Amino acid sequence: METTETPRSGGMAYRLGIAALDRSHRELMDAFVTLQALPDEQFLHRYPDLVAKIERDFRQEEAMMEKLDLPSFQTHMEQHARVLNALHHAASSLMQGDIELGRRAIMLLADWFPYHIDTMDRRLVMAIDTSAARRHLRTDNSESSD
Ligand SMILES: [Fe+2]
Repeated sequence: METTETPRSGGMAYRLGIAALDRSHRELMDAFVTLQALPDEQFLHRYPDLVAKIERDFRQEEAMMEKLDLPSFQTHMEQHARVLNALHHAASSLMQGDIELGRRAIMLLADWFPYHIDTMDRRLVMAIDTSAARRHLRTDNSESSD
């Protein structure tokens, strides 16, 4: 798995040390700011693109969780589902002309996202590290017993 060069302890809170996740999270944080700066008409048209990006990010993480198959990831997946549900709800309000609700949803998302990355996503990365370490130890043990 590709890793970023930045140490996990350094840099911003949303750096986890897995390049694909860090890139996706950085793009999303930038997209929140970009979307909010758009005039209403463009905000309305670009909102679904942002939701699609978030769905891709969540799917990427959930695929990692499924590989690890740990029951503790249920809470993480539930958070993803609740956020997507709220964003889809805001999308239907947007389609009916409630731009402010859409903007508020993005504002709340931008506040929530770094916290989610620093807690749930970080726990996922730690589990990946632990799992890789276990595999490495098993490989070492089987090599030494031969
Ligand atoms: Fe997540």
